[in-house]
Amino acid sequence: METKFWELKKDPEAAIAEAAALIAAGEVVAFPTETVYGLGADGLNPEAVAKIFAAKGRPADNPLILHIADPEQIETLTGGLNANARALMETFWPGPLTIVIPRSEIVPDAVTAGLDTVAVRMPSHPVAAALIRAAGCPIAAPSANVSGKPSPTNAADVAEDMKGKIAGILDGGNCGIGVESTVVDTTSPVPTILRPGGITREMLEERLGAVEIDPALNGNPALRPKAPGMKYRHYAPQAPMYLYEGKQAAQRLAEAALHACKQGMRAGILCDDAVKTRLEGSLRRGHSLEILSWGEGKSDLAEHLYELLRDFDRLTPQFIIGMGVDERGLGLAVMNRLRKAAGYQILLAEDDCVTVKSGKVFPEFLMLADN
Ligand code: TXA
Ligand code: MG
Repeated sequence: METKFWELKKDPEAAIAEAAALIAAGEVVAFPTETVYGLGADGLNPEAVAKIFAAKGRPADNPLILHIADPEQIETLTGGLNANARALMETFWPGPLTIVIPRSEIVPDAVTAGLDTVAVRMPSHPVAAALIRAAGCPIAAPSANVSGKPSPTNAADVAEDMKGKIAGILDGGNCGIGVESTVVDTTSPVPTILRPGGITREMLEERLGAVEIDPALNGNPALRPKAPGMKYRHYAPQAPMYLYEGKQAAQRLAEAALHACKQGMRAGILCDDAVKTRLEGSLRRGHSLEILSWGEGKSDLAEHLYELLRDFDRLTPQFIIGMGVDERGLGLAVMNRLRKAAGYQILLAEDDCVTVKSGKVFPEFLMLADN
């Protein structure tokens, strides 16, 4: 299949109209949102939805989010909204929040994977909103990556995964937030975060009072996540990855990087600007490391994480050593993605020692702490 590519800088209205017509005709089109790119199709048309699963190679038991452009559009999709659901819609829409609510009859089983709930989100990205309005239907859209790869945050990364498999790609530049929306189950007695994302736990608590976090998110393989998609190996770079967490993560990561370099290992290093600058100051030209920085704070990390993981796939290091951040604010979402990327191979660097937090096989030198 030939994939159309629309550059939105030129004539955005014509491009969006063309893309919307393809969606209305049952085709799949990728489009930008404020979180990551989505792979969109008519959410009320089971054949169109089936094409999304085929393009992504997505397991059929993993339900999709329906994207709407106006809050009223939700009424026909649900059996009823409780006070928590309404409070979340009023406070955080449009924006990076998905609510899980009881489904109505018109939502196809292909979208909900047979569950009696449906996930709905109203994105704030102007291109996404215009596309949904022009298509005249709720748009079912997962992230626009091949299943198992990091979500795409720019059109080139979408094309890498989807060229030849879908009808078109709307290029709206880079996504601002960079990690997927927060998914909140509003049907449980206490609203529960099924996937941390752009709307933080603190923001939800401020609005709702108590909020729970799905206990399966801590990586315990014995627990089954309530969002089916959270159980898959995800966001994973091809090279094995190890993650330092804790107060001394930056320091230990720098020591391990220098050790790897001395041994001539082609290690990938994922860190912030401060650590990158420090490392480069003590390395010779032509060293063996691939050091990629996300910038300064947690929002830079969220914005660039997936792009950097894809860069590592191109650079093919022997392994990657990453640096964690604390879990406040956006930290919860980025740490969730980083831990998954590392397959829960995690070292805790605190109190002048390094201990295994989870995981099994670590290269010996990652465990060294010299005081
Ligand atoms: O930011 C986002 O949410 C992006 C953009 C494109 O909107 N979309 C996205 O979709 O990340 P996807 O399909 O990659 O992730 C949706 C997550 C999956 O973990 C899925 O299992 C979960 O939401 N989900 C969908 N419907 C659900 C339901 N009824 N109950 C529980 N979890 C659900
Ligand atoms: Mg996804």
